[in-house]
Amino acid sequence: MKILVIGMGGREHAIVWKIAQSPLVELIYCVPGNPGISDIAECPHISLEDDFSHLADFAETRQIDLAIVGPEAHLANGLVNVFQARGLRVFGPTQQAAIIEASKDFAKNLMIKNSIPTADHQTFVDADAAISYVKSLNQPVFVKADGLAAGKGAIPGRTVEEAVTAINRILVHGDFGIAGSKVIIEELMVGEEASFTVLTDGDYCLPLATAQDHKMSHDGDQGENTGGMGAYSPTPVITKSIEQEIMETIVYPTIHSMKTEGREFKGVLYVGLMITKTGPKVVEFNVRLGDPETQVLLPRLASDLVPLLNACVDGNLNLCMTEWKPETAVCTIMASGGYPSNYETGKVIRGIDDADALNDVVVFQAGTKRINDKIVTDGGRVLGVTALGIDVKSSIDLSYQGVEKINFDRAHYRRDIGYHAINRK
Ligand code: AMP
Ligand code: GLY
Repeated sequence: MKILVIGMGGREHAIVWKIAQSPLVELIYCVPGNPGISDIAECPHISLEDDFSHLADFAETRQIDLAIVGPEAHLANGLVNVFQARGLRVFGPTQQAAIIEASKDFAKNLMIKNSIPTADHQTFVDADAAISYVKSLNQPVFVKADGLAAGKGAIPGRTVEEAVTAINRILVHGDFGIAGSKVIIEELMVGEEASFTVLTDGDYCLPLATAQDHKMSHDGDQGENTGGMGAYSPTPVITKSIEQEIMETIVYPTIHSMKTEGREFKGVLYVGLMITKTGPKVVEFNVRLGDPETQVLLPRLASDLVPLLNACVDGNLNLCMTEWKPETAVCTIMASGGYPSNYETGKVIRGIDDADALNDVVVFQAGTKRINDKIVTDGGRVLGVTALGIDVKSSIDLSYQGVEKINFDRAHYRRDIGYHAINRK
């Protein structure tokens, strides 16, 4: 098969790395890709502007058998619809289905209608009304922009003042642009977070392994909310019985209600969860693989990924099974100093090959760029160092051995990835 992957992050590097191992795959293209991806796939320069028509032209001329869309923004902008209209095979939800991530208000209403467990909330378009509401509540809340905000649109309101500032940022100052035309005020949930991912053909859902992300920028979950500073899989917080509860009370009701609404959902549903004292509750839905979660899930997946993706597209996922390596995977993200706020780019990165050469270590690139024969930093999250080990402690140690081989000016990473799993023991 000829496969086209769309995206340029650590997630897409992990996808390309995994499918490159499939005996079914003869050629991989990735648009736009990154320097790490270009070692294993062709990365042609194709514009993703203008309703994806250039990309669809490319897929037609090169006779692509399957396109895999990584980032949510392309899904929300209808890439899958464009490909489907041209009769091209593509993995991912349509624009109508991707709304479950692209609008938190839509997701919340769907959950309420179908009794899917989540935090109580109210939606506002008017700042004064939102402010009166948080004053009347007088308790800690989360203030969220409705639309896509690159993982930065959820702001804690630990005090009324903090919540009011967040409301003003979103509704009055327009910090999130059009994504902030509505604000969602949510009750604060208490518990441990986890990431639960399923593949779905619109009817049947096949769970992938569990994982836990580390969203905050600094050790001990301090600092600012980021796209994710590291992950590990599996996570002990999701036991077998909790997994079953998630499938029965969250995943199937969501997928089936999307179909009832005329928004059939095919692709990846990634549920961000809070495991509370009263059971798992939804923090958010995502319509694509998590990043960095993918960087720990795919190295643990023993099965070929390609037949699973084909089955989602063809509607026969019920015939598929997955096998997982028993090892634990840990991924530590190395970021540019200052991320998620201001940071500099263009710093020369050394040692990627040395880290990659360690047994059971793989480096996935994200915010990197090639200049002549050098790889330099070109984004907030620069790369992820994933290690597989017999238990969480040995994979943590190995991931940090990899990290220590890599350096660039002002590199920042957390030193406590996986600590929830260790503390639990
Ligand atoms: P979101 O963009 O909705 O995924 O939120 C980003 C992060 O904010 C989540 O991963 C949680 O850490 C935190 N968060 C969001 N909503 C809540 C909530 N209702 N209660 C507690 N934490 C939350
Ligand atoms: N790791 C969080 C996300 O992919 O949204």
